[in-house]
Amino acid sequence: MARDLIIAPSVLASDFSKLGDEVEDVVKAGADWIHLDVMDGHFVPNITFGAPVIKAIRNRTDKIFDCHLMIEPVDVYLAEFKDAGCDILTVHAEATKHLDRSLQAVRDLGVKAGVALNPHTPVNVIEYVLDRLDLVCLMSVNPGFGGQKFIHEVVEKTKRVKALIGDRPIDIEIDGGVDPTTAPLVAGAGANVLVAGSAVFKGEGVEGYRANIDAIRAAAV
Ligand code: DX5
Ligand code: ZN
Repeated sequence: MARDLIIAPSVLASDFSKLGDEVEDVVKAGADWIHLDVMDGHFVPNITFGAPVIKAIRNRTDKIFDCHLMIEPVDVYLAEFKDAGCDILTVHAEATKHLDRSLQAVRDLGVKAGVALNPHTPVNVIEYVLDRLDLVCLMSVNPGFGGQKFIHEVVEKTKRVKALIGDRPIDIEIDGGVDPTTAPLVAGAGANVLVAGSAVFKGEGVEGYRANIDAIRAAAV
């Protein structure tokens, strides 16, 4: 069954000095989910924000908070991010020694469990955890920064993940370098959640964001 196309703007590219307003504006502009990039300066070479910041903006929308945890270790922080109001917690396969345990821990908290794979990570790492998964996030850039160039190998990788997933109700999310040019490539390969940071927030305010979101959505369907 085809899954709905979801556009998940990453607030990493927004103006952090008015993060709550940016969340409201991008929701008014048509965002389906809010993608939250948590970076620790250890798993990835950049530091962003943690659970207190997410908690502070939680009351600005009732949209899904899609939390991408680029942190190692990760298990010890899961409850904190759930308590902050995240609806999906995505852990990196490369950042946990026991992926099965991490995914089960997320599910036990009562939120959806995602796994993210770096561009070089083979898809077979998810083969034996498929039944613990709600979302697979395929990185189409090396994680750590917004505004990087899309890595085209992810298109083939998306097709492989789609085949592995079969009929299971698992979202396939693409993260990095998504814009109206690359969106149709990954959507055509089977992805249904498109994260976009710079391609959404490059505009000014609600109308600018709306034009950017509409352009990605129109290109992808
Ligand atoms: C990268 C982050 C992405 C990033 C995407 O580590 O996970 O979510 O914000 O930004 P763009 O869309 O600018 O590539
Ligand atoms: Zn991300």
